[in-house]
Amino acid sequence: MSMTAQLQAKGISVTLGRRQVLQGVDFTASAGRVTAIVGPNGSGKTTLLRAMTGEVAHQGQVTLNGKATATMQPWQLAAIRAVQPQSSIIAFPFTVLEIVRLGLSAGLSAADSAVPMQALDAVGLAGFAGRMYQDLSGGEQQRVQLARVITQVWEPVVDATPRWLILDEPVASLDIGHQFTVMDLARNYAARGGGVVAVCMTSTSPPCLPTRWS
Ligand SMILES: Nc1ncnc2c1ncn2[C@@H]1O[C@H](COP(=O)(O)OP(=O)(O)OP(=O)(O)O)[C@@H](O)[C@H]1O
Ligand SMILES: [Mg+2]
Repeated sequence: MSMTAQLQAKGISVTLGRRQVLQGVDFTASAGRVTAIVGPNGSGKTTLLRAMTGEVAHQGQVTLNGKATATMQPWQLAAIRAVQPQSSIIAFPFTVLEIVRLGLSAGLSAADSAVPMQALDAVGLAGFAGRMYQDLSGGEQQRVQLARVITQVWEPVVDATPRWLILDEPVASLDIGHQFTVMDLARNYAARGGGVVAVCMTSTSPPCLPTRWS
């Protein structure tokens, strides 16, 4: 796989407070497959993801599709990769559709796009568009966030350039049926040429087993 279709990190070190959480971590993910970051609680999975997405200060180099992310503008990054954090706190009363539509402004899609509704359908939330986000269950809220993220990078390949889904424990609070929905969605995105990086705990729910992801 060529360097230009990879997410690569080299020598990532992160210190949080007085703790060195990561020391010289290398990571490579290739578009066209789902790559899982697996490890127990506190092992640094989220920290590695946040270093690679530029949300936490770090040493080391990160390249996305062959370009150093440190040299890219936020809008350039937002056009090619969407990030689902481990938890999202929404402080204001938004409807489900309003939250999913936030993905449109972050990516490059038209404001009148049908994508948000298709994304809700893809995560098993058809019919939820008008509901208040705060009134949903934890697993439903997590799937709304995934819908927002896939809305941002809906087409896995644009101008022969892969786009990326970067997901922190996307199935952690989902029932088994929806775990498979999300896993299939991730696998399908990769099969169509996109890149997927997903953090999983070791407490192996089936989607976290590497064989399920391949
Ligand atoms: N702001 C901080 N200050 C000090 N230590 C921190 C801070 N944030 C995280 N840590 C520590 O860094 C380590 C890695 O945390 P991280 O969130 O990356 O783990 P994780 O692998 O994602 O765990 P989990 O499976 O629970 O999500 C943990 O030991 C955590 O306590
Ligand atoms: Mg974590």
